[in-house]
Amino acid sequence: MAKGGSVFRCTDCGADQPKWGGRCEACGAWNTLVEEAVGRTGGRADRKHAVPSGSPPVRLSAVGATGFERWQTGLREFDFVLGGGIVPGSVVLVGGEPGIGKSTLLLQCAARLEQAGVPTLYVSGEESPDQIRLRADRLTVDAGAVHVLGETRLEAITHHAGALGARVVFVDSIQTTYTDELESAPGNVGQVRECAGQLMRFAKESGTAVVVVGHVTKGGTIAGPKTLEHIADTVLYFEGEGSLDYRLLRATKNRFGSVDELGVFSMTEHGLVAVPNPSSVFLAARADGISGSAVTALMEGTRPVLVEVQALAAKSGYGTPQRVATGIDPKRLAVLLAVLERRAETSFADLDVFVQVTAGVRLSEPGADLAVAAALVSSLYNRPAPADVIFLGEIGLGGEIRPSGAVERRIAEAARLGFRRVFGSSRSLVQLPGVSMVALDHVEQLVRTLAA
Ligand code: TYD
Ligand code: MG
Repeated sequence: MAKGGSVFRCTDCGADQPKWGGRCEACGAWNTLVEEAVGRTGGRADRKHAVPSGSPPVRLSAVGATGFERWQTGLREFDFVLGGGIVPGSVVLVGGEPGIGKSTLLLQCAARLEQAGVPTLYVSGEESPDQIRLRADRLTVDAGAVHVLGETRLEAITHHAGALGARVVFVDSIQTTYTDELESAPGNVGQVRECAGQLMRFAKESGTAVVVVGHVTKGGTIAGPKTLEHIADTVLYFEGEGSLDYRLLRATKNRFGSVDELGVFSMTEHGLVAVPNPSSVFLAARADGISGSAVTALMEGTRPVLVEVQALAAKSGYGTPQRVATGIDPKRLAVLLAVLERRAETSFADLDVFVQVTAGVRLSEPGADLAVAAALVSSLYNRPAPADVIFLGEIGLGGEIRPSGAVERRIAEAARLGFRRVFGSSRSLVQLPGVSMVALDHVEQLVRTLAA
């Protein structure tokens, strides 16, 4: 707001007023006040009031309809999640916990882009060029041609990016970047917002794509103001279980592609390698003949992915039984337990219940309900579910089983991986060669089938 020598001037009547009230005190017009610097030049306030510049308005029909050019990194899963590559002039925010592999991912992208003839600049405020070099030496891809810069001052970053003619600038990270325009420390909410805003303007004005790393908070969202996600064109999250080598890349917002696409990588000794066939990887560790395991097919964006749900119901040692859910919403688990109890006469009342999804995948759609219920029932009766079965369907509060969407695609993926039977809603009878449907209407039927 007004700092030192600024006033607010009405663009309608020209009257000055000391404070911004949304409405001009002189003529009463709404939203006409513009901050105006008094006796000061070169500050932000001046710029705000500058004569409008840039291109004039054009009719939509006159706008080139050629679609977007995209720069492919050749890192298949990364391009896939972005919707086909990096769009010029876009801002991509990549969030993830420390150590998950964000810097590695982006350095690999930069290396690939350089090889494809797209000039890049990799700016790090977290590591020195020496440290970046050490990381680069581990990678299979040669990052030698990438320009690196150890810098945290935003004005210097945009200056060097412009001088170098970089088409893609990687900024690692937004929390270590600061602008001269604010006095607060890097990482401060104002700094993060202002730097992101300036990077956005830089991207739009120069056509340079900017890929920004954002750290995440304990809650798992990108640290900083919520506006950070609004400013970016695309928001990606890079996640995974620390102990496992798999890393999942997911778009939660994408102005140039679909959201919820899932890209899977594995972290190797020599950097990240795209996993072209996630389903087989997620099921690789599955052991046959163990109770409490059920496979389902999730739709991750446009791609079906098979995952294993595991449940363990064990006699509770003390007081209130525990419910521990990993990869599934605990509230959803509570609903499913209640439905099984009331509608199928099973009881988990004095049992501890643990449910997890393999490889750090999260079940975010109700289509996985049936698999969770099957894993629970299988563990309760200590009867392994048949190894060639996948479970597809949503469970209602009445215990009824409802069809999940995109059934054909899910079943086709299951068939590809050798599954021969589908336990699913009787209302989604899909015929696919080599796969038979076992129609279920109610959880009671599921319990009877599995407990038999
Ligand atoms: P990094 O990219 O530094 O993570 P972030 O930027 O998200 O904090 O990745 C760090 C981890 O990845 C570190 O534990 C080492 C591991 N790593 C490998 O396993 N193989 C590799 O080739 C590289 C470069 C890193
Ligand atoms: Mg890093």
